[in-house]
Amino acid sequence: MERAYQTPANPFEVSRLNEDTLILTHKIALFKQNVLEETMGKLRGFNFPLLIEHVRREAIYFLKTLKQIHLRVEHPVNDDIVDENVFFLKIMAEHSKFIAHLLDPSEELLINQARDFGKTFDLLVYQARNLDIGSPTHDLLQDQLTIYKGATLELRSFKEQATKLIETAQVRSVIDPKLASHVTREAAKFLSIIDRLETRLH
Ligand SMILES: [Fe+2]
Repeated sequence: MERAYQTPANPFEVSRLNEDTLILTHKIALFKQNVLEETMGKLRGFNFPLLIEHVRREAIYFLKTLKQIHLRVEHPVNDDIVDENVFFLKIMAEHSKFIAHLLDPSEELLINQARDFGKTFDLLVYQARNLDIGSPTHDLLQDQLTIYKGATLELRSFKEQATKLIETAQVRSVIDPKLASHVTREAAKFLSIIDRLETRLH
């Protein structure tokens, strides 16, 4: 990460950075894949297999996105709207489920809120997948982006509040503050991607 900050904005240096990052990311994706396979078999720990599968998928997403940038490939906006939203809505649904499962069982109010978010985002994943069927109109795509954005803004504010409660030990849970911060940052990332897709759509 240090190197990324220090790399000057010239095509040759950026290209070298991309190549090295692709190699490293490929390695970490394989490592995550191995951990996942072990977790489904002999390895026992306190990480849910879904969490390991989730972080493995994130590594593969990063690999795919960086490759596209490196090769200067741009897909049609309709395809990107489907792919990015199916990926991130699923990630948001899983974050909600992790929060629900890692809170202390006595935290019923927060658990129920997190479960509701999980159900909402599961439904949105189906909606986004359905966009792939037929050829959606411009208005339909815009409406869907507005819906995803609204739901994600709500989820981000829930995550922000939960992160504060976790950091200040005002809530009972086994959630590491780093995981809380990760899920909040990822909601912000998704919102920035929706903004970019909206700009491309117009
Ligand atoms: Fe995540």
